[in-house]
Amino acid sequence: MNDADNTQISASQPLDERVNNRSQRPSSDAFKAFMASNWAPAQEQLPGLDAVAGHAAARRRAVSELFKGERLVIPAGPLKVRSNDCDYRFRPHSGFAHLTGLGVDHEPDAVLVLEPTDEGKGDDGGHHHATLYFRPLAGRDTEQFYADSRSGEFWIGARPTLAEFQARLALDTADLGGLELAITKNVGAPEIGGISIRLVRKVDENIDALVDTARYNTAKDPENLDLGVLDALDEKLSEALSELRLIKDEWEIEQMKTAVAATVEGFTEVVKALPRALTHHRGERVVEGAFFARAREEGNELGYDTIAASGNNATVLHWTRNTGKVNAGELLLLDAGVEADSLYTADITRTLPANGTFSPIQRKVYEAVLDAADAGFAAAQPGTKFRDIHTAATTVLAERLAEWGLLPVSVEEAISTEGQQHRRWMPHGTSHHLGLDVHDCAQAKRELYLDGILEPGMVFTIEPGLYFKEEDLGIPAEYRGIGVRIEDDILMTAEGPVNLSAALPRKADDVESWMAGIYQEIDAQLP
Ligand code: GLY
Ligand code: MN
Ligand code: MN
Repeated sequence: MNDADNTQISASQPLDERVNNRSQRPSSDAFKAFMASNWAPAQEQLPGLDAVAGHAAARRRAVSELFKGERLVIPAGPLKVRSNDCDYRFRPHSGFAHLTGLGVDHEPDAVLVLEPTDEGKGDDGGHHHATLYFRPLAGRDTEQFYADSRSGEFWIGARPTLAEFQARLALDTADLGGLELAITKNVGAPEIGGISIRLVRKVDENIDALVDTARYNTAKDPENLDLGVLDALDEKLSEALSELRLIKDEWEIEQMKTAVAATVEGFTEVVKALPRALTHHRGERVVEGAFFARAREEGNELGYDTIAASGNNATVLHWTRNTGKVNAGELLLLDAGVEADSLYTADITRTLPANGTFSPIQRKVYEAVLDAADAGFAAAQPGTKFRDIHTAATTVLAERLAEWGLLPVSVEEAISTEGQQHRRWMPHGTSHHLGLDVHDCAQAKRELYLDGILEPGMVFTIEPGLYFKEEDLGIPAEYRGIGVRIEDDILMTAEGPVNLSAALPRKADDVESWMAGIYQEIDAQLP
């Protein structure tokens, strides 16, 4: 084929229309008229929204206080292509979910706009009026109804109307058609009467472009627009939304408990599946699948890819390939979390003896990690620093490593800033905030996160580990190929920390008897 032919073929039909070449959709007027007739109204269910609407309004009110007089733009994000015309399951940006209360698949391309009002004249006595722009359910008299595989009701099911979201979320709603004007009108420098925008960037590139263009077109001196200053405005909004999530409200705490409960069930399913995993050529995938089934049955999804790591794979911190065998005599490290329909996720790790019984060396390592976790737990009190949890847990690990003769220096030297040799076997942090994101509040300032004070309403993990790699020549052979992590989800209260994941056994003896009990129950059910 020569170049001229290439040019002609490309011009004959745009590439992005060719996805329809396999379709024979009718286009006659008779078909369109018939298709539009004789339908009862759609039945869209929006469970749980009434309970969150007030909380979401309070969060918007808090944001309003921080950014008086400025337009705030918070996109949900678009659908993302997985391959060709198949999309990933949609999940809105966590900041959007937090400020709207929306979860599951609500709503691709939606944008929450907080429009500044006169002070005190906005929603709930605040300084902004919120409107949710989204693509509402199209009527049955539209082609979208039956011809749009990404948003049409015939393809993906009924979706909310403007009126439904407006009523259920206690939030004004508007069609996406009005979004461009809503974002761009009167943009400009405040000193000449314009409105300054702040945008949560890198969520929806179309909205990034819209805001960039509006800023450029209305700048006094567009050629010398200082992008750094504008980026800083936007980053401040992302930072504020992240920090707003450091303290969970009552509704969020209920969601965390729901996610943890489903995750506990998922771990039980994994124990039930272990006998099969032990016989499978990719036993780790059997484990992953057993957990995933629960995540989809009880929640929206996984909060993050499951780590199902047996034997030496357990020494890979984020082993998500899960391609390995599960052999009797090995430890299986399972780090997994169900994301509830509200999008709040658990993040729990248990390290299980694949055949139900710890060997003496496995138990020794396990109990050191458990002691470290308990030390972290004891250090986590209202008023103490977040970073104290890590210090307490890793000091215990350094002490054990010294006792076992693995540390090349004293405990004092290891735990000093200049040392840290013990971190060879635990290079990750001990705790992170947990919520809508598994690593929640990630844009919060360091002084509110690592250097922050623990307060009631915070939810975070405690997850020490020890990872002795098969290839580690610095330790005796008996330790090699053992990886242990124990991870719990903690709610701080005024009375102290509450272990939300305490329903899953933690002590070595309790893990063994829990597993044995599950197998006894299965045996008892056999005919
Ligand atoms: N599952 C990731 C973590 O524990 O942080
Ligand atoms: Mn974690
Ligand atoms: Mn984890």
